[in-house]
Amino acid sequence: MMRVAIVYDSSTGTTKAAAEQMGEMTRAAGHECSVESIHDADPAAVSAADVICVGSWTKGLYVIRQGPTQATIDFIERLEPLGGKRVAVFTTYAIAVGKTLGKMASSLEAGGASVTGQFKSKGPNAAAEFGTWLRGLDA
Ligand SMILES: Cc1cc2nc3c(=O)[nH]c(=O)nc-3n(C[C@H](O)[C@H](O)[C@H](O)COP(=O)(O)O)c2cc1C
Repeated sequence: MMRVAIVYDSSTGTTKAAAEQMGEMTRAAGHECSVESIHDADPAAVSAADVICVGSWTKGLYVIRQGPTQATIDFIERLEPLGGKRVAVFTTYAIAVGKTLGKMASSLEAGGASVTGQFKSKGPNAAAEFGTWLRGLDA
């Protein structure tokens, strides 16, 4: 059993819905899981979880200059040193994610995270691969 913290930045609810579905899947797999907006979450409490998932909607000019929101990067930078902790990143998007997931991963890795999952979904559902990642958590 892991303690999993899922945090997200959502403007119109899509990323929030994906995060909540990921939370349900995580609990159904037997883990404890919190799901919170980065605007409400306490970085210290999130840092204390066994496993962390950070999500943002994809923001850019649709086909170029995509990235996570600045608020997402600011939240990541407020996390405590992660010392190899497993972290997944996720994004929801309309057309193309570009470097959104890579930018989130780099920022987390700079804080010591081991980024073991990167998921994108076009819409409010968890990415199909999230279930596979979840099954690897107890290993
Ligand atoms: C200002 C703005 C910029 C966006 N830029 C992109 C983009 O560069 N690429 C893309 O695929 N989707 C882009 N989108 C679409 C959103 O990423 C997508 O609708 C997302 O699921 C919204 O998540 P939310 O409902 O959690 O806010 C953009 C949306 C807005 C409002």
